[in-house]
Amino acid sequence: MANICSFVALLFGYLCFTTNAISHCNGESNVGCIQSERLALLRFKAGLKDPHQLLSSWMGANCCAWTGVSCDNETGHVIAIDLRYHHLSNDHSTDWRLGGEIGSSLLDLKDLKHLDLSSNNFGGRTIPHYIGSMAELRYVNLSNAGFSGRIPHQLGNLSNLEYLDLNSFHSLYNLNADSIRWLSNLASLRYLDMTRVTLAKASDWFHAVNALPSLSVLHLPFCRLSNIPAAISHSSRTQSSIQSFPWFNT
Ligand SMILES: *[C@@H]1O[C@H](CO)[C@@H](O)[C@H](O)[C@H]1NC(C)=O
Ligand SMILES: *[C@@H]1O[C@H](CO)[C@@H](O)[C@H](O)[C@H]1NC(C)=O
Ligand SMILES: *[C@@H]1O[C@H](CO)[C@@H](O)[C@H](O)[C@H]1NC(C)=O
Repeated sequence: MANICSFVALLFGYLCFTTNAISHCNGESNVGCIQSERLALLRFKAGLKDPHQLLSSWMGANCCAWTGVSCDNETGHVIAIDLRYHHLSNDHSTDWRLGGEIGSSLLDLKDLKHLDLSSNNFGGRTIPHYIGSMAELRYVNLSNAGFSGRIPHQLGNLSNLEYLDLNSFHSLYNLNADSIRWLSNLASLRYLDMTRVTLAKASDWFHAVNALPSLSVLHLPFCRLSNIPAAISHSSRTQSSIQSFPWFNT
């Protein structure tokens, strides 16, 4: 009996070991990092201000193991950059957030699907228009990251985009748009948050939003919307959105 038990334990331990080894291979180091993308990430990092070395892991050969970087486990291409700033309990007095410049070297990450720079502090810089050329993007989160100025209409080129979060509720800076007609090109868009983005001059906002076939979540409070169509209550689709989201809370 004791023998069977230890045999089973041994077998079980062996299985666990091999399973770990396999998942480790497949999950992380199977393909590794593509050299040209590693260099692009290093150029991107060089433009950033990182006063507390949050990106200190960005060194060495395997860029897929760097903080905030994820690669496709089959092709090795970088598919996600998640540098969302998470508030630490002890950072009340010091600003640890990333800032600086978002360089166009990101364009070399051809398979990038997910970009999250939210809650950082880009100090009033404009949103780089070349984000609109990153055709594979599904998810863009630049909320409360200290961007200001006009939202680049080139974002309208992101035909695969499903999530766009430009919420500026906690931002010291003001994002705005004179027109958001470009938005209506985002046929895959499901989620849009432009809280406290000034849309006072964007008289086309309703048509742009209403043209989005896939939209199911919309946040437009504090946008100073004008030109709210009288017929708004006759559209069943917008009616449900109005009930769930405070469009008129301007
Ligand atoms: C690759 O990752 C995905 C999810 O991230 C997973 O479902 C898939 O099984 C992985 N493939 C391999 C070969 O590990
Ligand atoms: C964007 O990031 C913020 C945190 O910085 C988060 O609260 C929000 O849910 C994110 N938006 C989406 C669409 O995931
Ligand atoms: C957007 O798409 C149009 C047409 O496909 C193209 O001519 C233009 O260069 C693109 N703009 C950007 C910023 O990629």
